[in-house]
Amino acid sequence: MNQSTKASALSHPLSHIPAEILCAQDYEVQASRFLAAPVMAYIAGGSGHDVSVAANRHAFDAWSIWPRVLGDVRHGHTRLGLAGQDLPHPVLLAPVAYQTLAHPQAELATARAAAATDTLQIVSTLSSCRLEEIAQTGGGNKWFQLYLQPGRDASLDLLRRAESAGYKAIVLTLDASVQSPSLRALRAGFRMPEHVVPANLLNYPQAGLTQLDAGQGGLLQGLMRSAPLWDDLDWLLQQTVLPVWVKGVSHPDDALALRARGVTGLIISNHGGRGLDGAPASLHVLPSVRAALGDDYPLLFDSGIRSGSDVFKALALGADAVLIGRLQMYALSVAGALGVAHMLKLLREELELCMALSACATLDQIQSTSLVECSPGAERHIYQ
Ligand code: FNR
Repeated sequence: MNQSTKASALSHPLSHIPAEILCAQDYEVQASRFLAAPVMAYIAGGSGHDVSVAANRHAFDAWSIWPRVLGDVRHGHTRLGLAGQDLPHPVLLAPVAYQTLAHPQAELATARAAAATDTLQIVSTLSSCRLEEIAQTGGGNKWFQLYLQPGRDASLDLLRRAESAGYKAIVLTLDASVQSPSLRALRAGFRMPEHVVPANLLNYPQAGLTQLDAGQGGLLQGLMRSAPLWDDLDWLLQQTVLPVWVKGVSHPDDALALRARGVTGLIISNHGGRGLDGAPASLHVLPSVRAALGDDYPLLFDSGIRSGSDVFKALALGADAVLIGRLQMYALSVAGALGVAHMLKLLREELELCMALSACATLDQIQSTSLVECSPGAERHIYQ
């Protein structure tokens, strides 16, 4: 094992919130005290040169929130209905693999935080704890994120296990058939520690190496041989009565085709910049996907959210709710379940502050007219 990743943590997670944490994004800064540098690089990094990671963040700078005066928000709230489910707020926990990298209690700590804050948790296929154990922790509302496996038997078994364990929806991630390595993680010497394993998949056969004929490429004719196709989506939709969401959508034509196939809702995401490096910022494509789908189709968003004002901007540009990825790993590393619960509380408070000062009493009042488009330079000029 690579010595530098042998210990994934530098300091033990705290049982209190450090005084330095004043906003949700502070967890990103503090995490580097608790995670070894290679692990931090693995979590923070995207694919390739981090072009899309940077684009995700810069996209938020292109928008300012437009303040309004004398608005009465005393009856305000952050509740929403999402494809038949009532949620108290629009901040969800994204599926994030191998949470044992951040905290020994991994997804179980996250589940306790989710339950304590009434937050919907989406549990990854690649969780470090078994999906059944996570389902039993904390109660609360949980969805299961599915990566289709090389064989349909294994995919079906995972689906049945998620149904029996009580997950209320399936999130099929489609933007990670192949992931280009993170140069940042490689340069930092990251290797997955031996004790970090995909607990849900240990009994399933893994894809064998494909025999290639002369002239065939290792990627297109190799790895991509087991990548999901439209037929696989149709097959999955026939196997379950649970709502099926698709995560990793970026193009309006894909969005329309997925809706036509019978998918419950979509998650606009570029995997936090961990998919195609050079893919557009998810925030940039959100308005065109919303415009293609119309107002009523359920649409979630992730990639780049670090604050309540980011949440506000995503909602204004067409998302019904948002998913939080890396911030949950950072908060986990700092203070386990307490940290994740605190990070979620901060995000909600930051969102409510934006709503109050822009006179949006409810989420449906957050519209594109609540924002002003500005050049990033202009915004820096205003705020610094
Ligand atoms: C992820 N993401 C992810 N997505 C998914 O569908 N299944 C998974 O197992 C994982 N695993 C995973 C691990 C790590 C370390 C990261 C950082 C991300 C992507 C995740 O769900 C989400 O799309 C992004 O993290 C959102 O971007 P932000 O919030 O991290 O900027």
